[in-house]
Amino acid sequence: MPTVLIVGASRGIGLEFVRQYAAEGWTVHATNRAGKSDQQPAGNITWHPLEVREQASIDALAAALKGQSIDVAVLCAGVMGPRTMVPEAIDRTAWADVLAINTMAPLAVAGAIRPNLLLGSQRKLVALSSRLGSIACNETGSTYIYRSSKAALNAVWRTLSIDTRGDGLICTVFHPGWVRTDMGGPNGEISPEESVAGLRKQIAGLTMAESGRFFNYDGTELPW
Ligand SMILES: NC(=O)c1ccc[n+]([C@@H]2O[C@H](COP(=O)([O-])OP(=O)(O)OC[C@H]3O[C@@H](n4cnc5c(N)ncnc54)[C@H](OP(=O)(O)O)[C@@H]3O)[C@@H](O)[C@H]2O)c1
Repeated sequence: MPTVLIVGASRGIGLEFVRQYAAEGWTVHATNRAGKSDQQPAGNITWHPLEVREQASIDALAAALKGQSIDVAVLCAGVMGPRTMVPEAIDRTAWADVLAINTMAPLAVAGAIRPNLLLGSQRKLVALSSRLGSIACNETGSTYIYRSSKAALNAVWRTLSIDTRGDGLICTVFHPGWVRTDMGGPNGEISPEESVAGLRKQIAGLTMAESGRFFNYDGTELPW
């Protein structure tokens, strides 16, 4: 069975990815900040500690995975940050922190696990973005910090897809839907189970033709 790496799997969508891939018999590497999970889904799961803001932590993950093939990597770790920031009161510290987690960390992780993906047979590198990061879809304003962090992630993933063409990496960003997690809240439109079932179906069908593109969890393409 293939091997998947799920980054940011302590709860929410990441934990559900671990549950579903493990239940299907995949070999799962999962990260969270504690290096273990309170919830222990059944299956072949190895937990790794990872604080995505720290390059040393990313380097330690790369060292732990050295020589092991990874077919699919799904980068889920993300934060919303303050939603209410206004132009009259910029919170530079909070904004920088969200950019570090949502934008810089996925690229740093991608660089660290590239050798593992090259050993794998699927070479799929997926990052969870958000519809809120779509500039074209933005009709409602607000949420400057999160929107800009995910718009920048989209730009980063598109760039990565071009720069890794020679490696045959498939670099795709997905909106997981509005999901009932700690981030999405109780009014979200879908459960983590529905979101991840849809995302896994889309990931399974990814080819180079979908690299450098942005999709909803149901396969609908989203505009940048
Ligand atoms: N839920 C939605 O409706 C929705 C919609 C669009 C996009 N998304 C995106 O989907 C992804 C997953 O969201 P979710 O709803 O599952 O969120 P969540 O329930 O809030 O979980 C966030 C995950 O990210 C991890 N994380 C945060 N900061 C981290 C850091 N510095 N280092 C390592 N891990 C860190 C958290 O770990 P800890 O437990 O250690 O904090 C947790 O595992 C995010 O990228 C989010 O932006 C979600």
